[in-house]
Amino acid sequence: MRITARLIVTLALTAGLVVGGATYIQLRTERGRLVEDLERRSAILAESIDTAVDPALFTRDRKKIQQFVGKFSNRGRLSGIAITDAKGDVLAATPVLQDEAATVIGLAAEALKSETPVVKFIKFKAGEQHAYTLALHSDEGVVTGSLIILQDTTHVHARLRDVWRNNFLRLLTQVFLIALVTLFVVRWDILAPVAQMAEWMRHQRAGDDSEPSPLPHTDLFGPMAKEVKTFARHLSVAKTAAEEEARLRQISESLWTPERLKDHVKMKLGGQPLVIVSNREPYMHRYKGREVEVIVPAGGVVTALDPLMRACGGTWIAHGAGDADWDFVDKRNRVRVPPEDPQYTLRRVALSAAEENGYYYGFSNEGLWPLCHIAHVRPDFRPEDWTQYLAANQKFADATLDEIEDQESPCVLVQDYHFAVLPRMIKERRPDARVALFWHIPWPNPESFGICPWQTELVSGMLGADLMGFHTQYHCNNFLETVDRTMECRIDRERFSVIKEGHLTAVKPFPISVHFPGPDRDKAGDPSVKVDKPALLKELRTKAEFLGVGVDRVDYTKGILERFRAVERFLDKHPKYRGRFTFVQLGAPSRTHIQRYNQFLAETDAEADRINWKFKASDWRPIVYLKKHHNHKEIEPYYRAADVCMVTSLSDGMNLVAKEFVAAREDDDGALVLSRFAGASRELADALIVNPYDIDQAAEAIRYALEMPAEERRTRMRRLRETVKENNIYRWAGNLITELTQIRPEPRPGVHSA
Ligand code: F6P
Repeated sequence: MRITARLIVTLALTAGLVVGGATYIQLRTERGRLVEDLERRSAILAESIDTAVDPALFTRDRKKIQQFVGKFSNRGRLSGIAITDAKGDVLAATPVLQDEAATVIGLAAEALKSETPVVKFIKFKAGEQHAYTLALHSDEGVVTGSLIILQDTTHVHARLRDVWRNNFLRLLTQVFLIALVTLFVVRWDILAPVAQMAEWMRHQRAGDDSEPSPLPHTDLFGPMAKEVKTFARHLSVAKTAAEEEARLRQISESLWTPERLKDHVKMKLGGQPLVIVSNREPYMHRYKGREVEVIVPAGGVVTALDPLMRACGGTWIAHGAGDADWDFVDKRNRVRVPPEDPQYTLRRVALSAAEENGYYYGFSNEGLWPLCHIAHVRPDFRPEDWTQYLAANQKFADATLDEIEDQESPCVLVQDYHFAVLPRMIKERRPDARVALFWHIPWPNPESFGICPWQTELVSGMLGADLMGFHTQYHCNNFLETVDRTMECRIDRERFSVIKEGHLTAVKPFPISVHFPGPDRDKAGDPSVKVDKPALLKELRTKAEFLGVGVDRVDYTKGILERFRAVERFLDKHPKYRGRFTFVQLGAPSRTHIQRYNQFLAETDAEADRINWKFKASDWRPIVYLKKHHNHKEIEPYYRAADVCMVTSLSDGMNLVAKEFVAAREDDDGALVLSRFAGASRELADALIVNPYDIDQAAEAIRYALEMPAEERRTRMRRLRETVKENNIYRWAGNLITELTQIRPEPRPGVHSA
C-alpha cells in the first residue's frame, strides 16, 4: 500500500475509534438523562395520582377509580395507567393496559412487595414502554394497592438514533477532510521534496556534481538535505580517489619498468642470478690504433637484452669477439659491464678461428640465417660447419654449466639460432635447469626448413628447452608444423606444446621490444627533444628540407637496395622533392667475411652511387650512405630529426629499429614506413605498411609520409608510441621469465630431496 493510502487509512481508523468512543459515552449519557426524565415525570404523576385516588381506593369505588384513570389516558407521552388493589387485582386501567392484564398483574405483584418504585422497560405490541410501578399507601401507611404508569420511549430511541447519525456524519466528514489534507501534505510537503532530492542524487550518481536546488520546508528536510549533501560530497571525493587509484593501478599494472622487472625477477627467481647465453656480446673491447674502445655491437639481441640485464643483474655468456676483449677479463673470463657503470657480469667464451668460421660464419650465417629468412639467398650447409656448430654449442654449454654449478633449478635464457642444440646439452647434464630458447629470427614453413640436412638434430636440440619463444604466433605455428614433419612426438595444439620422450616444450610468442624512455624524457616541446636538422645535414654535406632515415646492419634481408630504389622512384615521380629530400642510411657493415655480405655491401654502395649520380646536384645528395658502426648516441639525432624512417626488411623476426625510432620520437612527430614482412608490422599498425618488393608502393609511402596532414602524423605516432611504451622490453622479459618459472623443474641428478 502506498504511503498516502496507509496514512489515510491509519488516520481514518484513529478518527473512527475516537468518534466511536465519544459516541458511546454520549449515547449513555443521553439515554440516562432521558430515562431519568421519564422517571421524574412518572414520579410526579404518581404522587399526584396517589393523593387523588386514595379515597376512592379506600372505598374500592371502581367507577370513580376508572373515571380518574380515564382522565390521564391521553397526556403527552403517557401511554397508560393501571391501578390494582392491595392483592394485585386490576381495579382500573387505560386501554393499552387492559389488553396486557398478565403484565400488569406481574408488575403490581413486584411493586406490592417492594418499598421503592419499580422501574422497567417492557416490550408491548405498541412498542417499548417505560413502566413505573409503586405501591399506594393510606395515610396510615397501609398498602392500599399499586399504581402502574407507562410512558412511551419512542423519543428516547429517536434521540439516540439522531446521536448515532450525527456522529457518523461527523466521522465521514472528518475522514474526508483527513484524506484530503493528508493527500496534499504528503504530495506537496513530503513526496515532492523527496522526489527532488532523489532526482539530484540520481544526477550525482551519473557524475553531475552540481548543487541541489533549495528544498521547500527546510525545517523538515533541511537537516536531511544537509547530511545528504555532505554524504554526496564525500562520495564524490571517494569516487575521484577511486578513479585516480584505478588509473594509477592500471598504468602501473600495464607499464613494465626496470624496477618492476627487477622486483618481478627477484620474486620469481628467489634471488638467483639470471643467466643469458648469446653469440654476440653486449660490450666489445677493440683496439683503435693504440687505444682501446668499447663498442656496443649493432643488432636486436644486444638492443633488447642489455636494458634487461642492467635491470636484473646476472651473467651474460657470449663470444668474446673483440680483439682487446681478453685484456679485460678475470681468470674466469669475466668482466663487469657496462664499463662506465657496471651492473652485470659478462662471461666471455673464446672461440678458435676454425670454430668461429664453421659455427658463426658458416653454419649459423650461411646456413641457418638464409634458411630462416626467405630472402632468396641460397643456404649453404657444409658438414665441417655443422661439426664446428656442435663443438661451439658444447663450449657455450660448458661455460653455462660452470656458471650454474652452485644454483638449484637455475633459469637460463638462450638466445637465437646460433644455439639450436645448446638447450639439450644443458638439460642432459642439468635436468633441473629451466631453459628457454628465444629464436630472434623468423621460422620458415616446414618445406623450406626441410632442406636442412640436420633438421632432426636441430629440432631435437631445440626441444631440449622447456620453453621455445618466437616473435609471432605465425613463427610458432611454422615451428610446430616443422616438428610434426620431422620427428615422432606428441603435439598439443591447444596448449601449444610438444611432448617428446616425456619432456614438454611450451611454444609461445613473445614479441620482443626496446627500452622506452621514462617520463623524465617524455616532455614534448623540451628543446633537447628537437634536433637541428639543417646542421645535421650540413655535416653530411647536403641540403634538404625533408629527411628520411634507415638504420641497419648491412644485410641482404633488410631490403636496403629496395629502399634505395623506392627513394629513386619517389624522386622520379615527384620531381618537386629533388633538392628537398635526402635519405640517410646508417649501415653497420656486418659478417663481411661472408662473400654474400661483402658483395651486398658493394651492391648497396654502388646502388646509392648510381642514384646519387642520376640526380647529381652540387649541394644536394638524394642518398647519404654512412657505412660504419654507429652507437646509440650517434643514431639518436637521426631518429629525432627524420621526417620518415624506413624499415623495409624482406624478412625479419621483429626488427627493433622500427621500435627504436618510435621510442625516440618524444615530439610525437615523424612517420614510419614499415615492411609487412617484419614481425614489428603485427604490432605497429599505425605505420605505413608496405611490401618492399613493390617499389612503387614504397615510393608512394614516402610521399604520403611527407604530405599527410600533420594531425594524422601525430595521431599515428602517438598510437605507435603507446604500443611500444606498453609492450616494452621489460614486459617481454617479465612474460618470458614468468612462463619459464612456471615450469616444474626435474630433480638434479645425484641430489635427492628428503
Ligand atoms: O636478430 C638477429 C641477429 O642475428 C642477432 O642474433 C644479432 O644480435 C644480430 O642479428 C646481429 O647479428 P650478428 O651478431 O651476426 O652481428
